[in-house]
Amino acid sequence: MTARLQDKVCLITGAGSGIGEASALLFAREGARVAVVDIDHAAALRTVERIHADGGEADARRVDVSDPADTETCARWVVERFGRVDVLFNNAGISGVGDVFETDPDLFDRVMAVNVRGVYLMTRAVAGRMIEGGGGSIINMSSCIAQMGLARRVSYSASKGAVLSMTKSMQVDLAPHGIRVNALMPGTIFTPFVEKYLMSSYPDREQGLAAIRARQLGGELGRPEDVAQAALYLASDESRFMMAAGFIIDGGVTGGR
Ligand SMILES: NC(=O)c1ccc[n+]([C@@H]2O[C@H](COP(=O)([O-])OP(=O)(O)OC[C@H]3O[C@@H](n4cnc5c(N)ncnc54)[C@H](O)[C@@H]3O)[C@@H](O)[C@H]2O)c1
Repeated sequence: MTARLQDKVCLITGAGSGIGEASALLFAREGARVAVVDIDHAAALRTVERIHADGGEADARRVDVSDPADTETCARWVVERFGRVDVLFNNAGISGVGDVFETDPDLFDRVMAVNVRGVYLMTRAVAGRMIEGGGGSIINMSSCIAQMGLARRVSYSASKGAVLSMTKSMQVDLAPHGIRVNALMPGTIFTPFVEKYLMSSYPDREQGLAAIRARQLGGELGRPEDVAQAALYLASDESRFMMAAGFIIDGGVTGGR
């Protein structure tokens, strides 16, 4: 059986940790050559080491997705280094905890800069190169929060709603060029990101975990690998008929409401 991403060049942002890291490992195992991009270079290098130890091909680069110069240099680098780019997984993101009073303008702007502007800038830099190569697949990281109200997530929910809308608009523009654009909408996935917001959102970590588990239909949080499998499907040609979709992977939280 051929690997599901054989010889595809896949650029994953935020691939030094959590969902991005799990996706990088899985994509490489499925035959992809992976550009591991993160603002934390040491973390990106660790992911590359894991891929190499597993017999895969990957290289790392430090990129701040909210910086136009960084994203343009990154797009040039990936084509120079790997010869083409077939998949862009806009996964990098940060959390923002707070209701409308607690969220100061700096936090709001920072969350929007990474989570929304980052998706726009990376796509702007990479999509032209993808078109030159004959098309590809872009996966944008939204969240199931784009479809539901959750307490004290004003900046974060604004950013993930924007990513979902932007995905649909981008898809209309890029479809004639052979590019598919879809969004992933995970629920709560156990990563360092969730560890951080458990600390800032709840007075007690265990109480926070119990509250999150209570809203999962299966009672458990997701794993990074659960989302990586959905990303793999969207990256591969198996999802050729999926366009402008919001792919929910949340243990039933949205559907069960
Ligand atoms: N974990 C969840 O429950 C969950 C749920 C829904 C959506 N998401 C989204 O999934 C994505 C990945 O989350 P995760 O849980 O794996 O988080 P994580 O914190 O484990 O990993 C995020 C990575 O992004 C990198 N990053 C942050 N800012 C960056 C920037 N400006 N430029 C480049 N890289 C940057 C970080 O260094 C980190 O390695 C995020 O967009 C997040 O909003 C997560």
